[in-house]
Amino acid sequence: MSEDRIERDRRGQRPSSLRLNRRVFIGGSLAAAGMLGGEPSLEASAAVASGTPLRERAARRGLTFGCMVRGQRLKEQPELAAAIVREAAMVVPGIEMKWGENQRKRGPADYAAADGIARFAQDNGLALRGHTALWYRNIPKWAAAEFHTPKADALMRARVKDIVGHFRRRVVEWDVVNEAIEPKDGRADFLRIAPFARDPSDAYIEDAFHVAKDADPSARLFYNDYGVEYDRRGSDDRRSGVLRLLTDLKRRDVPVHGLGIQAHLIAGFKFNERTFRDFLAEVAALGLHVSITELDVSDVLLPSDVHVRDREAADHMRAFLDVTLDEPAVKTIVCWGLSDAATWLNSFAPRRDDLAQRPLPLDAGFARKPMWHAMAAAFDAAPSRDA
Ligand code: XIL
Repeated sequence: MSEDRIERDRRGQRPSSLRLNRRVFIGGSLAAAGMLGGEPSLEASAAVASGTPLRERAARRGLTFGCMVRGQRLKEQPELAAAIVREAAMVVPGIEMKWGENQRKRGPADYAAADGIARFAQDNGLALRGHTALWYRNIPKWAAAEFHTPKADALMRARVKDIVGHFRRRVVEWDVVNEAIEPKDGRADFLRIAPFARDPSDAYIEDAFHVAKDADPSARLFYNDYGVEYDRRGSDDRRSGVLRLLTDLKRRDVPVHGLGIQAHLIAGFKFNERTFRDFLAEVAALGLHVSITELDVSDVLLPSDVHVRDREAADHMRAFLDVTLDEPAVKTIVCWGLSDAATWLNSFAPRRDDLAQRPLPLDAGFARKPMWHAMAAAFDAAPSRDA
């Protein structure tokens, strides 16, 4: 609920520029560990070492760690901005780059809110992901109406060209197309019957990648999707659909550089290591990179007790990351938020006991949780890869 309210309030507002100095926070943590103004004790040194932020642990292994952020929250919560600068090396806007937000009315698009996040990233030395140029959801009403007319192709191309061009050389990884697979729609190729789909049904996907490539030749271009992580009913079809789509795109020399795997995990679901490992290997064999793009662990199936929940969610995260990071094609890990203070899951999948979900590495007070430690340990244990 509150997510929706914040989305409404956010419209038309522009996050102020926030420049944060990393040394301020390092100084802060040194002070907290008792290392300022004297010789550090052994315990204090250990505390500082174990406190090495996720961004740095990831970087040591040739990985990039990042998180989703919403512009409104950056403005309202200085602690959030500080935590992001401390822990992350990359940010991605949660909604500010979605078509429906950018072009509510026909006419020039408004990128002010997304520009605010881009500025925050630039001021603080963070890389920027773009999410998303084309998605079947959050499409402006006026555009949706035109998808049934011959103008559809031109409209879709114009959208991709406009946003990717606007962020040219600022976005390092673009989710060019998001969620194009839906086996339940009944097609043999498992492609979603999207508003912009026509025959051949993946032509719009191919077009979008070519347009994106022309608009920003330096960005790495991703196809992003969900539902490929578990052995659940329908997951095999989703994996097949994604592999088939990527194989076709590669065969036709479409400029796709990677697969984004959302990884909205659910603690309590059975994670089959072998299945996921094989899937990653098949994607890698196509010559593609893999980014984990929206990582969080829902605790909706877990009991109320916070300690039990935190432990089980952390274990789930660790099991997933251990397999994921074993695959050298995986280069980027992005969480869908950083702190439990703001998660889409409280509105998307609320707990039955009405307690807030705890799906992210920092708690609502921005303190590191067992999940943070699980991620830190997984990054430390990950094989190094070429940058
Ligand atoms: C979600 C945002 O987090 C919400 O704030 C918004 O209301 C709906 O979209 N998969 C995606 C993301 O690709 O864009 C979605 O983000 C979450 C699921």
